[in-house]
Amino acid sequence: MKKVRLKLKKKNCLIAIGILVFIIIEIINPSRIIAINKLQNKGYSKNASKEIIRQGLKKKVLEMDFNEFLELNISDEAFDKDNIDMYCSINNKKKISLELVNKLIEKKYNAEEISLIIRSGDDSSINSFASNSKYDNISDYLKYDYAKLGNIDRYITYKNTNGVSYEEAVTYVNIGLDKEFYSDYKEINEFSLTMLVNKYNKLSSDFIPKNLVKFEKEYCSSECPMDNEEVVKAFYEMAKAIREENLTIYVNSGYRSYQDQEEIYKEFTKLYGENYDVAHAGFSEHQTGLTVDIGVKGGIFKGSKEETWLKNNSYKYGFILRYDSNKVKITGYNEPWHFRYVGKDIAKDIYEKKITFDEYYVKYLER
Ligand code: DAL
Ligand code: ZN
Repeated sequence: MKKVRLKLKKKNCLIAIGILVFIIIEIINPSRIIAINKLQNKGYSKNASKEIIRQGLKKKVLEMDFNEFLELNISDEAFDKDNIDMYCSINNKKKISLELVNKLIEKKYNAEEISLIIRSGDDSSINSFASNSKYDNISDYLKYDYAKLGNIDRYITYKNTNGVSYEEAVTYVNIGLDKEFYSDYKEINEFSLTMLVNKYNKLSSDFIPKNLVKFEKEYCSSECPMDNEEVVKAFYEMAKAIREENLTIYVNSGYRSYQDQEEIYKEFTKLYGENYDVAHAGFSEHQTGLTVDIGVKGGIFKGSKEETWLKNNSYKYGFILRYDSNKVKITGYNEPWHFRYVGKDIAKDIYEKKITFDEYYVKYLER
């Protein structure tokens, strides 16, 4: 009898231990821990890994390379397991509303297109884009990393109307060239050596550039103007270098205030009419203090040896020819004497690329 009771006790004990082990295994769940580890080794965070497991996607995700888009978006409420293959093919490091991504998938955009749409847009522009009927071949435009999704209709119209390349359509529309000069502009008020002022970017009436200093007398043709200190120094360096070639340059005009430009505008339009190409107040690059109008001995700049030298060498001192006669369609001006300081590295890059500052700005500086 005693033996039977002992056996029973032993059996109960074993069952209890079994249950305990089962509970411990369930709580600790080593296979889950192993899976989290594996996902973390792939590059996923702990939270994303847990979520991947919770969604039952562990096996699938472990078979694929780490995907930043999945990492960022797995916890989004709109995460849809059925779209996992698409999500994992999206090559983008941006967190955007997954609801919008789902909309784009529904519209049958492919992963490459969706990656470009996300890169070039924000929630608001993606939302309106996704509400339109499907666009064809958008990658032709959006593959340029400075393309803006919000401009897509303008790119298409500009390309179709002007027969330009996709790259030109994106660049020119980003500059604003699909709109009339002065008709639609941004107000800019932050001084920087790479600021852009043109017929689409306006300075306020109280904008004054930093560190204005007066040019020394020997570099001026008459009254000495001012410019930003760095520009003045660079001009001296350039003027000294050109002297080595027995040529001489002067600064005819540098910084001009908004009010100065207002006067100039009035004067010139009175003399030559409304269509005369003089910058409206606020739209003159001279107001930045980064610009010089260059003069030569004898007064005729165009066709002078100095002009040729400056065209080929000014970049070495940080200056670019701003209003080249071949680029009037982009800049709106033909002024061989007007040079803009942008610093040596950018000046060299612009010189080598043979593009205007307007193009350079939208392609490489505006982000
Ligand atoms: N003279 C040039 C166009 C300017 O004012 O910027
Ligand atoms: Zn000028």
